[in-house]
Amino acid sequence: MAATRYYLAQSLDGYLAEVDGGIDWLEDYEGEAELAGPDLIDGSYDEFIAGIGALAMGSATYEFVLGVGRWPYAGLPTWVFTSRRLPTMQGADIRFANGPVAPHHAHMTAAAGDRDVWLVGGGDLAWQFAADGLIDELILTVVPVVLGSGLPTFAGRLTDPLVLTGVRPFRSGMVELRYRFQGSAERSNDSDEVGG
Ligand SMILES: NC(=O)c1ccc[n+]([C@@H]2O[C@H](COP(=O)([O-])OP(=O)(O)OC[C@H]3O[C@@H](n4cnc5c(N)ncnc54)[C@H](OP(=O)(O)O)[C@@H]3O)[C@@H](O)[C@H]2O)c1
Repeated sequence: MAATRYYLAQSLDGYLAEVDGGIDWLEDYEGEAELAGPDLIDGSYDEFIAGIGALAMGSATYEFVLGVGRWPYAGLPTWVFTSRRLPTMQGADIRFANGPVAPHHAHMTAAAGDRDVWLVGGGDLAWQFAADGLIDELILTVVPVVLGSGLPTFAGRLTDPLVLTGVRPFRSGMVELRYRFQGSAERSNDSDEVGG
């Protein structure tokens, strides 16, 4: 069955975007995924997206992508959570969703087939998925930028601590942290396990 992975970049002080949704602070780091060690890779994103079969995002994240004017996820069915009527975009396979996330999650995992679901964000939607036990893995790229304020990676508190499964430092100063959610049997096969 498809795993659900919350994959995102976060500032050093725990924000995924500025208060107004801005992510300009990420621009200098785009494509900067070269590992700090001898095992060079092409990039964390390319490696990740190749295994994805469906996406989920909140309406604020969706509207941000719409504002860019080019849909980057062609061919991948995308569930957009909103209580409003929003436009679609040419080349995008959008399924609007409203209300409790679990029934919609069942549809996206079915659509993903033997690939995974990418929970794109933001923190509001991510918290709803986590609270319902629907996230298997958090892949967090920490960017060495301090914003001082912003939108949080999770909009609410989670009761159980996560289990660290992998750490990859990049030459740019970014660090990718991988965590398994408690209760999830899903394990990442492509990163080094930490602590055995
Ligand atoms: N750094 C990164 O890697 C990264 C990753 C993802 C996002 N971002 C940024 O984060 C910002 C947005 O994050 P966010 O946490 O504020 O918002 P978000 O999760 O993208 O969107 C929240 C909105 O989605 C709708 N929604 C959420 N759950 C719903 C549900 N169950 N049913 C119906 N509607 C639901 C609601 O709006 P309505 O009902 O009013 O539509 C809600 O206000 C964007 O600027 C984006 O660019 C950054």
